[in-house]
Amino acid sequence: GKDFLTLIDISTEDIYDLLALAEELKQKQLAGQSHAPLAGKTLAMIFEKPSTRTRVSFEVGMTQLGGSALYLNSSDLQLGRGETIADTARVLSQYVDAIMIRTFAHSKLEELAAYATIPVINGLTDDDHPCQALADLLTIYEVKKTLKGLKLAYVGDGNNVANALMIAAAKVGMDCVIACPSGYEPKEKYIDAAEQIGKQTGAAVAVTHDPVEAVANADVIYTDVWTSMGQEQESEQRLTVFQPFQVNGELVKHAKQDYLFLHCLPAHRGEEVTAEVIDGPNSFVFQQAGNRLHAQKAVLLSLLL
Ligand code: CP
Repeated sequence: GKDFLTLIDISTEDIYDLLALAEELKQKQLAGQSHAPLAGKTLAMIFEKPSTRTRVSFEVGMTQLGGSALYLNSSDLQLGRGETIADTARVLSQYVDAIMIRTFAHSKLEELAAYATIPVINGLTDDDHPCQALADLLTIYEVKKTLKGLKLAYVGDGNNVANALMIAAAKVGMDCVIACPSGYEPKEKYIDAAEQIGKQTGAAVAVTHDPVEAVANADVIYTDVWTSMGQEQESEQRLTVFQPFQVNGELVKHAKQDYLFLHCLPAHRGEEVTAEVIDGPNSFVFQQAGNRLHAQKAVLLSLLL
């Protein structure tokens, strides 16, 4: 069946269709037009980690489309007491119309999707964050009116957000350079996939350890937290290793003058980005967070109608 697990699986054409639908849904909502095609449909949302944006945007999105969403904390589910992911998938498929899950291992998401008879959506795994990347493309498109041919520089940890972003950029023909400390590169699987996709779309994909090289002439600068959930123990070491990769007033001078700053949030001012940059005129991070709602409504319609 149809799932939304990684943008690797979604064609360039389907990504553009989702972006167009997201923009249409956004305009409808801004105009106050009610649009309830998901009446009677329910989304189950399993969270094994905390969330602000993903949780609220999915829940509000379902409500706005006429359906409803159930917040399921994994520690309140039998899943947290040893019921298998396969049985959880088969049982939830009896009650609801789609499942969104935020979990750790990407394989767990894939197992859930394999056993569910309804669509499954990736709300963040250790490897990927496709909903975020779709909202990122929407934001860049809104500001720049184009995607193909732009240069995106991601500076910081080569994490799940970086993996997803590389794929998203490659799919739409946007050059993508990741600047990260040695040992914190994106997953090989994602670099290889992005390079393959880039051959079709004309997008260059590169990984460097030099943030200035990455940001040079960039249209978009993107960063994310240095320490995410589960990495708190190594937090002090990370602060040191990532220090040269801070997005600050000095670094952004190397980008195009009208560069766009993005961050998936939550942000730590003074760590991965200075307040000057994230609260400055080139920052679109709240429009970006808002676009999670519109992008995910498009995903929900594509899976549930
Ligand atoms: N960017 C993002 O996924 O935010 P949350 O962790 O708050 O959902």
